[in-house]
Amino acid sequence: MAFPKNFDWGIASSAYQTEGGYNEDGKGPSIWDVFSNQPGRINGGGNGNICCDHYHRFREDVALLKELGVDSYRLSVSWSRVFPEGAGKVNPEGLQFYSDLVDEILAAGISPIVNLHHYDIPQALYEKGGWENRETVDHFVRYAATLFDLFEGRVSRYMTLNDVRGTMLGGYVTGERAPGRRGELKAAVQGWHNITMSSAKVIENFRKRQVPGGEIGCVMGVMPIYPDEDTHECRKLAKAISYFYNDAFLSPVIAGKYPDGLLEILDERGLMPMMASDDLEVLARNPADYVGVSYYTCMRVAPREGGDPGNPMSLFERRGRDPRTKSGWEIYPDGLYDTLMHIKDTYGNPKVYVSENGAAMPDEIWKNGMIEDDDRIAYLRDHIAVTERALMDGANILGFHVWSLMDNFEWQQGFTKGFGLIHIDRETLKRSPKKSFYWYRDLVANRGL
Ligand code: NOJ
Repeated sequence: MAFPKNFDWGIASSAYQTEGGYNEDGKGPSIWDVFSNQPGRINGGGNGNICCDHYHRFREDVALLKELGVDSYRLSVSWSRVFPEGAGKVNPEGLQFYSDLVDEILAAGISPIVNLHHYDIPQALYEKGGWENRETVDHFVRYAATLFDLFEGRVSRYMTLNDVRGTMLGGYVTGERAPGRRGELKAAVQGWHNITMSSAKVIENFRKRQVPGGEIGCVMGVMPIYPDEDTHECRKLAKAISYFYNDAFLSPVIAGKYPDGLLEILDERGLMPMMASDDLEVLARNPADYVGVSYYTCMRVAPREGGDPGNPMSLFERRGRDPRTKSGWEIYPDGLYDTLMHIKDTYGNPKVYVSENGAAMPDEIWKNGMIEDDDRIAYLRDHIAVTERALMDGANILGFHVWSLMDNFEWQQGFTKGFGLIHIDRETLKRSPKKSFYWYRDLVANRGL
């Protein structure tokens, strides 16, 4: 077995997708509170107002985590619970909630990995320009420092941000996600640069604190891109998309620089972001200690005529093959292997966590009060098997985090796609572990497949 004894077996979730308590105890709204409550935005009409009610039931949820036996739990903090306006006055009740949550996790013998931001920027900051506004960088740095102070002596591992590409692409280009803007490439690129700088500056500050055993990384959604046709044109297209889709985001975090040629391309297209004079140096000084790779599926592409140049996503056809999950995403475990090896070979074998992997499945078969999700078990088993193969082939993988602990608010898909190892009854909010919960518990206990 390739998995070392200290391999970190974990599970992940995020604040907006689970907490609810959307306006309680001084919490301010985030862009997701606003967006999900606008009619027509969310499949099935759900929102995060009550959500899984994790805000009130976190002790029960941590007891389930303990039963699962994981080594670590990646959670995110809601910025607008801590700073209702994103900046200015801190909310002591928000701090208390996260302090209690972390204590509960530690008391369960589980190591928390705190992700500072998972798509839910405070609405008050968004109204001042959000990620497009350079001042947001300073507000994020202060927010991070507040959490580092709060968790001193209790949390040593952090992720600065989750899925930078998804944040900007979904929010400003396709418009499917908060704040729901479409085709705004210039805003997306400026926001991306500011997010990149937020991450680098937070990493720099964290290092200055010399937290014992402290490590800080950043999570990226990575999707390998394959040509769907065996033609030169198609291979060229796949390579180009992969550069923008993956390496453009991985490189600043792992290598501390935008990939070669990127800034020139942005400049030619009038998309060059505004930068402070020392930004590229700050970036170069602060590569992350590790990168989180969230992998679900691959993308197969082919050229498409007549797309809208303002919307890069419309310039190619995006294809997938069967079998698929309930999200319609192709199941392709080798894509995770290819991703892990690409990162190893391109970036000098950095430390990596598989920070998310999991599947929405139909979850229709109940036996003895439990969902029999053999399809989810097969999905996870196959992805863990390729992770093991990548480890044997030399990739520096530290851990694997299943997405997700419980069925939760799947963004624009609302509650129609459950990724959880625990089912949540939407009426009663009762938690029922699925068969995959027990399967993963045994895998963790055996330290591997
Ligand atoms: C990645 C995101 O980080 C997470 O919030 C989401 O639920 C999963 N992908 C599944 O789509």
